[in-house]
Amino acid sequence: MIAPSILSADFARLADEVASVAGTVGRPGADWLHVDVMDNHFVPNLTLGLPVVQALLAATDIPLDCHLMIEDPDRWAVGYAEAGAHNVTVHAEAAADLLGIARDLRAAGSRAGLSIKPNTPLEPYLDVLRHYDTLLVMSVEPGFGGQSFIPETLAKVRQARHLVDTGHLRLLVEIDGGINAQTIEAAAEAGVDCFVAGSAVYSAADAGEAVEYLRSKAAA
Ligand code: DX5
Ligand code: ZN
Repeated sequence: MIAPSILSADFARLADEVASVAGTVGRPGADWLHVDVMDNHFVPNLTLGLPVVQALLAATDIPLDCHLMIEDPDRWAVGYAEAGAHNVTVHAEAAADLLGIARDLRAAGSRAGLSIKPNTPLEPYLDVLRHYDTLLVMSVEPGFGGQSFIPETLAKVRQARHLVDTGHLRLLVEIDGGINAQTIEAAAEAGVDCFVAGSAVYSAADAGEAVEYLRSKAAA
């Protein structure tokens, strides 16, 4: 699966930018649309929040993948699920009650996602992950698009892939940060199911073509 991140899109033309990665005849298009919510507290950057997510939900049929890089997701995450997001991901480093968040997200009709930063180990979260649908491994420090991929993070992808393949966990493994035509093959080999790509999609001349190019590289 390919999930373009609109962080690198032109926000003044957001609806067009989203439409440019949607499927058309003969082209599958983006599987999810990745939406980076930042609050200038959990990360040193400020982006968008629920009103923009609601506008996006009205503007596209692509399932929204909301990545909440915010403090106190215990308070805010469920609102994104209630609005209609398909997958809502919170950060393990920011949340107080990970079980409660997963339960609330699922009850509101969304997939529950858990993200860990590059230096956060997977082990402490293995039990709680049984209540989640998505594991988002950050392959850059969260906060900004256009950073370089950190290859060491793939060890956590391999670990999660093994646990899924052996039936110990049932979740989708997603990676976010520095994914492009050069790095996506190693991530695919490590066992990623869903690839987030911001600058690699929206800096391309044709964002829709960039999505399919990444998909072909991931399958290679
Ligand atoms: C970074 C965000 C990413 C970002 C990725 O904190 O979570 O989703 O958009 O951008 P690229 O693909 O350019 O690294
Ligand atoms: Zn993200």
